[in-house]
Amino acid sequence: QKKEIESLVKDSVFFRAMSNYNTSLMERTLRDISEYWVLVGKPDIKVIEGYEEQDVINRLVEENLLIKMNDTEYPNSYLYRSAPFDVARSEKDTYICTRGSHDDVGPTNYWLNTDEAIEIARTNLEGAMKGKTLYIVPYWLGPIDSPFGQGGIELTDSLYVVLNLMKITRVGRVTAKPIALSNSYVLGMHATADLNPEKRYILHFPDENDGMGTVISFNTNYGGNALLSKKCHALRIASFRAKREGWMAEHMMMIGIREPTGRMTYISGAFPSSSGKTNLSMLQPPDDFLKAGWDTYLVSDDITWMHPVNGQLRGINPEYGFFGVAPHTSYKTNPRAMDAIKRNTLFTNVGIDSRKCPYWEGMSEVPEGLIDWRGKPFDGTDKAAHPNSRFSTPIKEYRNLSPDYENPNGAPVSAFLFGGRRSDLMPLIMEARSWDEGVLFGAMQRVETTAAAIGKVGELRNDPMAMRPFMPYNMGDYFKYYLEMGKKLEKPPRIYNVNWFRKNESGGFLWPGYSQNMYVVKWILGRVNGEITDAVETPMGYVPSLDSFDYGTIDKNTMNQLLLIDRKGFLEELKTVRPFFESFGSHFPDELWETYYNVKSRLEKW
Ligand code: GTP
Ligand code: MN
Ligand code: MN
Repeated sequence: QKKEIESLVKDSVFFRAMSNYNTSLMERTLRDISEYWVLVGKPDIKVIEGYEEQDVINRLVEENLLIKMNDTEYPNSYLYRSAPFDVARSEKDTYICTRGSHDDVGPTNYWLNTDEAIEIARTNLEGAMKGKTLYIVPYWLGPIDSPFGQGGIELTDSLYVVLNLMKITRVGRVTAKPIALSNSYVLGMHATADLNPEKRYILHFPDENDGMGTVISFNTNYGGNALLSKKCHALRIASFRAKREGWMAEHMMMIGIREPTGRMTYISGAFPSSSGKTNLSMLQPPDDFLKAGWDTYLVSDDITWMHPVNGQLRGINPEYGFFGVAPHTSYKTNPRAMDAIKRNTLFTNVGIDSRKCPYWEGMSEVPEGLIDWRGKPFDGTDKAAHPNSRFSTPIKEYRNLSPDYENPNGAPVSAFLFGGRRSDLMPLIMEARSWDEGVLFGAMQRVETTAAAIGKVGELRNDPMAMRPFMPYNMGDYFKYYLEMGKKLEKPPRIYNVNWFRKNESGGFLWPGYSQNMYVVKWILGRVNGEITDAVETPMGYVPSLDSFDYGTIDKNTMNQLLLIDRKGFLEELKTVRPFFESFGSHFPDELWETYYNVKSRLEKW
């Protein structure tokens, strides 16, 4: 069988390069592939080298799976409609599999025993690709020459998955050398199967594959379920490995802000899915800031890998493109995203008008001849675009990329922002008094659910550090690890809590958000760089004093509401998160309980 596989891939540039650098890894790869290939019914094989995008597109168009968009306004851009029930991450089908017990992964995860999970996969995958083609997609996460990069190989029968990977990940022959030299890869096996949601599984095996991790996913073709390089590898598998090796793989965006003096400061933000990371990473400062010489430069919009180097965390973006939320992206809210998605973009589940331009809620006026995301004429009874519709766009289409984007060692991070959709309680901005209290901020995150995952939208749930859906081991141990990281760093990032989503009595947002978030970012820079010293101390931490806070054109009254620390509300909140913390039992660090009680008693005395 290995011989058969060998003859099928022998002309591949990737494999020839791989065997030049590392014969034994090449042998192992062939074994991995042949095992899967036999199981799924000996389909044709095609290795993705990185230059076949047009062929992939042509095939998808021939099969009526892609619609070409207006070539003048959206050159080389296409629309894909997924199965209407396969439109978001499915948390209930996402498992972490170990040979131990459920306690390994804690109460926030679904768990399966490794052997049991492999059996489920076998039964479902047997013959699943008969007569189809198996695509082998080698990929590399991180700058090609980064010591912090990691390789992976995704085996899939979905050309839609292949095209997405080509848009958002470094794929093909350029990855042969770094994968070979790193002497390992994460193995991802994906199959469309029947897209039967009853038999949908996204299985993670962090201990398998010599401890590098394996992912098996089937009966789904959507985003985080099927693009295994993204949530499965770059967050779940990577977090597992990060804890072992002493670094962090976080659901964070990262940008550099350049001030008129030329000083660049990098900040990272962890907000849950569909809660503002991509938008903050593309922050266009208000005009007066731009005129004065401020600007922002993107490193990452969804995932950041951070390594301690000389006492400081340095972040890299494992990805090579955006898989961004389309709805409410507009020239008003996010002009820089609008510019980036004007070319070479794969749209999923958006509407399309008679001129073959994409459309979604919040973009502009409803255009003529609008067809909704399911392919039916739009009549206003349903949404034109699915709330979790997305754009897949290569990162190079974004004009304000950080000069450190390709820096193999990344860039130093000065601040962590935690936040999410919270219509009450959480102020616009507060600064933790210490790393430990910042970790408590993160652990306490209770935010509204969004359309990025299947299930109810707008329900409050605990989502610590925006990692609940992506944390592959016991969350209590993650808190412990987070606390340790702060001790290990000479210059740990300062930690903030932000909330762009606080609402007034009539249900409208109190804060304009988007480019206006620059005012909050400016305060954070003033704090981390030691220039704003007169912050107001509260039991929760520091909030801006209105004298030294530049808040634009918002009225003072609204600002006071936005910055309010509600003593009773926070005491109530501490009570509410308690059972969640307790659910981790002895995994929950004593130190964090201590911090919890300190904050509580300060609030009581206030
Ligand atoms: P994932 O990619 O799913 O991890 O989400 P994300 O964190 O990148 O969220 P994104 O930036 O795409 O924002 C999600 C939704 O929130 C979009 O509809 C945005 O328009 C909206 N949004 C982002 N920033 C703001 C803001 O500052 N204020 C308000 N009101 N809405 C915002
Ligand atoms: Mn995300
Ligand atoms: Mn995003």
